[in-house]
Amino acid sequence: MTIDTIRQDFPLLQKKANDQLVYFDSAATALKPLQVINAMNEYYFDYPANPGRGEYDLVHRAATAVEASRAKVAKFLSAKPEEIVFTSGTTMGINLVADAFVRKHLQRGDEIIIAESEHAANVLPWYSLQERYGIVVKIVSLDMNQRLTVDILKHHVSLKTKFLAFSDVSNVLGTKTDSKSIVSFAHQHGLYVLIDAAQSAPHFPIDVVELDVDFLVFSGHKMCGPTGIGVLYAKYDLLEKMDPYLMGGGMSLKYAKDFSIRFAPIPHRFEAGTQPVAEIIGLGAAIDYLMSIGFDFIHQQEMVLRNRAIKGLQAIPFVKIYNPNAEAGIITFNLEGVFSQDAATHYNAHHIAIRSGQHCVRNLIDYLQTDGTLRWSCYFYNTEVEVDAFIEATKKGMDFLDAFFR
Ligand SMILES: Cc1ncc(COP(=O)(O)O)c(C=O)c1O
Repeated sequence: MTIDTIRQDFPLLQKKANDQLVYFDSAATALKPLQVINAMNEYYFDYPANPGRGEYDLVHRAATAVEASRAKVAKFLSAKPEEIVFTSGTTMGINLVADAFVRKHLQRGDEIIIAESEHAANVLPWYSLQERYGIVVKIVSLDMNQRLTVDILKHHVSLKTKFLAFSDVSNVLGTKTDSKSIVSFAHQHGLYVLIDAAQSAPHFPIDVVELDVDFLVFSGHKMCGPTGIGVLYAKYDLLEKMDPYLMGGGMSLKYAKDFSIRFAPIPHRFEAGTQPVAEIIGLGAAIDYLMSIGFDFIHQQEMVLRNRAIKGLQAIPFVKIYNPNAEAGIITFNLEGVFSQDAATHYNAHHIAIRSGQHCVRNLIDYLQTDGTLRWSCYFYNTEVEVDAFIEATKKGMDFLDAFFR
């Protein structure tokens, strides 16, 4: 397996019109391989039916494909298929847990802990519980190594703390949390734990049994899958304690005019309405694809690229790097004195796609002591030649920006 052969799987990278494009924004969304696009097209061309709504062959084929994807996700996480709930993405997964579980099991005055590095998706659902139900949100700082640790939590967990939500990999700092130790510590104190795995599921193997985590969420589109599909994993006994979130077709077995409802078995109870069938099938194909590449290869390639990019950036005097020691292929940096959006415009002029701004993590502004940053993020399909193009464009950054913006 070589990067050249891998790149042939990605139509965007094969288009003549894109031969100058350098895509370093995979933390925002990953590129999609043919294997995923073809699996989705096959559904639309050959069996575009509504699973669970009919008794004809096309319906059975669609339903079988959905459950096959569920089984793939379960195997991917070492979970059971009935513990996998399809959502529209990480954001919906966290909202679902907040509204259907936490709201029900926590009282006014109980505390939820989150880290200051959490994405808005793992902040605002908890703020909303505070606002609506008086559940108290505590935001804890990271340590000097840019991590949430057991030591930090020891200072903040009280008898009122009932829930902890944190990201396995930060989408700004790229640091990998020691999630297993944190879950174990949290359980010793009786807390439920949710892990936001949006930035780890695409890059690191996850074993929910080994982690012993209660809830874990991620999105398909950051791992070569389609948009509009994500996963909530929850321990089965916690799903049993959870209220249905969306009400509608497919989530009840029976209801009557006396307002009684008998809910469908778990996990379908949490999947009301017609599912994003093509996206579910695409997610299954994305998992097959990533497994065929292998996480060892993925991580190794990302580290080669990251190290090369860090070395190149460190040699440029006007570059400030905020996360020199991260485990994921994410570099957060600035061209000193330059507004990050202006710098991103410069990269765009060189056909280099990188992210700028706050990356949906506003609570990290004080920690980083800046209003915005540039974020370079790679995946296994990127090359060292692309890294060199990025470094060359960075070197030219100040001339361009002096001329146009300062
Ligand atoms: C760490 C983290 N959590 C949550 C999200 C939200 O994911 P989505 O927009 O797919 O729901 C993201 C997306 O950037 C993320 O990086």
